[in-house]
Amino acid sequence: MRVDGERMLEDFDALAEIGATAAGGVDRPSLGDAHLAARRWFLDRAAAAGLATRIDAAGNHSAILPADGQTLLLGSHLDSVPNGGRYDGALGVVAALHVLLAVQASGAELPVALEAVDFTDEEGTLVGLLGSEALAGTLTAERLHAPRGGRDAFLAGLARSGLAEESLFSARRDPATLRGYLELHIEQGPVLARAGVQIGVVTGIAGARSFALRFDGSAAHAGTTPMDARRDAGLAAASFAVAANEIVVREFPGCVATIGDIRLQPGAYNVVPGAASAGLEFRSTDADELDALESALLAAARAAAGGRGVELEVEPVGHWEPTPLDAGVCDAIAAAAAELGLSSLWLHSGAGHDAQALAGVTRAGMVFVPSVAGLSHAPGESTAWEDCVNGSAKASRSLAACAIPAPPSGRCAPALV
Ligand code: GLV
Ligand code: MN
Ligand code: MN
Repeated sequence: MRVDGERMLEDFDALAEIGATAAGGVDRPSLGDAHLAARRWFLDRAAAAGLATRIDAAGNHSAILPADGQTLLLGSHLDSVPNGGRYDGALGVVAALHVLLAVQASGAELPVALEAVDFTDEEGTLVGLLGSEALAGTLTAERLHAPRGGRDAFLAGLARSGLAEESLFSARRDPATLRGYLELHIEQGPVLARAGVQIGVVTGIAGARSFALRFDGSAAHAGTTPMDARRDAGLAAASFAVAANEIVVREFPGCVATIGDIRLQPGAYNVVPGAASAGLEFRSTDADELDALESALLAAARAAAGGRGVELEVEPVGHWEPTPLDAGVCDAIAAAAAELGLSSLWLHSGAGHDAQALAGVTRAGMVFVPSVAGLSHAPGESTAWEDCVNGSAKASRSLAACAIPAPPSGRCAPALV
C-alpha cells in the first residue's frame, strides 16, 4: 500500500495556488479568505474521491474513510503565517488525504476509521491550536477572551467562517473514540538536512509562551522635545527587544525568544511614539526553564519601561507546555522507516504542532521530513518531493502498525502490512 506520489504532487501544487505569493510561498492567515478557499478545496477534493466529509463546530475540516471502531486521525493545517511557505501544514493535510486514498484504492479493511483533518488556526494568527485543542477538549474560555491576534480579529474570523464562539467547545471528541493521531510535517529546522537523514522521528514538542506587551509613554513633537524630556514608548520596546536577545543567548542556551511584531503609535516620522505594542514569545523543551525565562524576560521588559518613564502592561496570550509524543508510536515510525530502507533519526520539535494538543488525549506521533537549509515560516521554504513521498509512505506504514489492536502494554505494535 503506497501513496501515489505523482497524484499527491498534483494536489499539493493545486493547493499551493490558493493564496500564492509572488515570492513562491502562500499567504493564508487563519480564517481569512485564502485559508477558507484552501479548506473548501480540501473538502471538494475528498468528496470527489468518494470520501465522506465533515466540518465540526470548531471548523476542523475532515475527510473520512469510515469503518466500525475507533478513529485514527491523520492531519495538520492549511492556514499559514503571513507570507509563509507552501509546505508548513499543507504537506501533512495532503499526505493524510492521500493515505486515505491509498487505503481506499487497496480495498483493505482496517479495524479503524481513518480521518484526515485540517485543523483550524494552528499557526496562532488568532488563538493558536484552536481546532486541535477544541477537538482534544483542552480549549478554555480564557484563551478565547485574550487571543494572540486580538479579540476583534478573532471574532471577525469566526463570523467569516460561520463559526460561533460558544459552540467551539462542542467539537470535543470522546478520547475513547480515538485510536491515535499521526502528523507528517516538514522539520522546519536544519537537523535532518545537515545529517543527510531522510526521516525524523519526533520525540516531543517544545513548550511556548506568548505575551502581548504594551508600553505607554507620551506622544510628543520629534523636533522640539529634548532627548532628556521624552517618554518614548518605541525606544522602551526596542531596548527590551535587544535585552531579551542578550538574556537568552547569555543565560538560557537551548531556548529561543522572539519579538516578532512591534507596532508604534501614532506611527509617524515626526512624532515621538506615545505607545508601542510588542508580541513576545519564547520556547523551551523544559517547563522549569520556561518559568525562569518568563521571569527574566518580564523583569527586563519592566526595566526597559521604567528606565524611560514608560508604563508597561503585560497580557498572557498563549501557554503551551512541552509535550512528549507517544513512545510506542515513535517505535512504529522508526520500524516503518527501517522496513522502507529509509534513514531516520530521533529529534524533538522546536516548532509547535497540532500533535501537541492531541497528545493529551490519544497516542500521538509525528514524522518529519527534511527542510532545505532548515528554512520555514518564509516563502523560500522547501522540501524535496521525494522526501515528502517518503514521509507519506512511512506515515501510511506506521498507521497500519497503529491501526491493529494494541498489545496489552498499550504500546503500538510494530507489525506492518
Ligand atoms: C507554528 O508553526 C509555530 O511553531 O509557531
Ligand atoms: Mn505547521
Ligand atoms: Mn507554522
